Amino acid sequence: MIFDEERFELDGKEILLRSAREDEADMLIDYLKTVSGETRFLMCEPDEIRFTTEEEIKFIREHNESEDKLLILAFVDGEYAGNCSFEGETGTRRKKHRAGIGIALFLKYTGFGLGRHMLDALLKKARERGFEQAELTVVGGNDRAYHLYESLGFKECGRISDANRYDDGTYSDDILMVKKFR
Ligand SMILES: CC(C)(COP(=O)(O)OP(=O)(O)OC[C@H]1O[C@@H](n2cnc3c(N)ncnc32)[C@H](O)[C@@H]1OP(=O)(O)O)[C@@H](O)C(=O)NCCC(=O)NCCS
Repeated sequence: MIFDEERFELDGKEILLRSAREDEADMLIDYLKTVSGETRFLMCEPDEIRFTTEEEIKFIREHNESEDKLLILAFVDGEYAGNCSFEGETGTRRKKHRAGIGIALFLKYTGFGLGRHMLDALLKKARERGFEQAELTVVGGNDRAYHLYESLGFKECGRISDANRYDDGTYSDDILMVKKFR
């Protein structure tokens, strides 16, 4: 699905939201490596990001062409700041009303309201597409993300204790959250 460009001002900065271009594949891989190192709250360690340019191009193309997927990039004063996305559940018909959500910003672009704007736009498109619920996983201790999701209507519906084990031997939980559109 293609996201029609949106431009607005936030906190004195020019924001642009748009779909990704295939020639931005390497930029997206570099971003994944950087943000994974900036926080404990994403899926993996930076050295575990091993996507090739070709794989990333395929990822971008799939999100742009599939009606069940959407990838929105955010730019702040012309600089890439991060992205958010949804993907419909695949497999059987019983699962197709559900969309999985993800979002991550570079640390320097967190905390001034951009995440809320991006998720508002993403959830609007997911609802318009006909999904009945949005789902996500947030790591225990990610209070900013948890607060944001809760304020957007997500409700905690489960927790996997010690779901993540870090290289330093510490653990964190995975918290499952759902927002119903019905
Ligand atoms: C999580 C993330 C997407 C949120 O986006 P953001 O632009 O930083 O968030 P916003 O500024 O839009 O909103 C944050 C909200 O949390 C609140 N907040 C900030 N720190 C908080 C804390 N420690 N505890 C509780 N609430 C907090 C803010 O006040 C704001 O709420 P409000 O709008 O009601 O005032 C972004 O911080 C990010 O990408 N972080 C790193 C990667 C990550 O954690 N991704 C999510 C994986 S599930």
